[in-house]
Amino acid sequence: MRILVTGHLPENVISPLKEKYQVEMNQEDRPMDRQELILRVKDKQGLLPMLSDSINEEVLNCAPHLKMIAHFGVGYNNIDVRAASARGIMVSNTPGVLTEATAELAFTLILSVPRRIVEGDRMIREDRFKFWAPMLFLGREVTGKTLGIIGMGKIGKAIAVRARAFDMRILYHNRKRINSEEEKNLRAEYVDLKALLTESDFVSLNVPLTEETKHLIGKNELSLMKPTAFLINTSRGPVIDEKALVEVLKAGKIGGAGLDVYENEPSLTPGLAELDNVILLPHVGSGTLETRIKMGMLAVENLIAGLEGRKPLNLVNPEVLKMRKDI
Ligand code: GLV
Repeated sequence: MRILVTGHLPENVISPLKEKYQVEMNQEDRPMDRQELILRVKDKQGLLPMLSDSINEEVLNCAPHLKMIAHFGVGYNNIDVRAASARGIMVSNTPGVLTEATAELAFTLILSVPRRIVEGDRMIREDRFKFWAPMLFLGREVTGKTLGIIGMGKIGKAIAVRARAFDMRILYHNRKRINSEEEKNLRAEYVDLKALLTESDFVSLNVPLTEETKHLIGKNELSLMKPTAFLINTSRGPVIDEKALVEVLKAGKIGGAGLDVYENEPSLTPGLAELDNVILLPHVGSGTLETRIKMGMLAVENLIAGLEGRKPLNLVNPEVLKMRKDI
């Protein structure tokens, strides 16, 4: 069988694939050119794509032999799962292995935005640190503040664990309430979205991108936030209406934002990069060496399972099993 890996992964991560299959891998540290992807996927049974690849009908129509798509990432909004299912193609993702890295990054932003870490660094490098004064370049404290977590899945919970160490009051909103034992352990209080936005000093977004969560945070929601509150997004860019965010940030209607993801990634909404009260990162929530290796290994494991006729551990479209006589 033939496999296409669209991103450059370490040899030891893909070697289990190479032992069994003919593997073509992108050798460059940049996304595979779309026309090349479409050309190369033609004769492949397995695909291991990256989040920068849109695996839509156009790609699937060019991949008549495809049996399994093992996505490198937890969020799989870039894959048309319905179209894959309709063709009997299994799709998997990589949950769990990136929970800690992503929660660490969210917390890095929670600490860095109010203490103006990047702004301070810039000030030093530009030789603008001329004297110390007690009321200059002040930030805001995190300890004891209220953190609102929107999306209490694995990553949301891992952020709550870290917030406990900072004595934060933890509010959360989720499609489903988590069980009371877990609420107690996390010291997290379930509230509706409006209460969360109104009461939180930090709002952290940790939902997958779906039709329901697109622009979950728009003009109205932003207007509910405290003028001192910070918005942290390590989920997906389109969860925020970025234009509305730039407007409220410019007008000083919220305290600031820490963003790892963008509505039209990698492009930024005009005005965002000119603001001092935001920290902008290049989509690196899972970006530690340890985690990227674990993600690669898990994607490879899922791919092999699917191609060997076993149910992949992280299958996201189990409905496809009914159509597949070989599993
Ligand atoms: C990264 O953004 C992922 O979804 O894994």
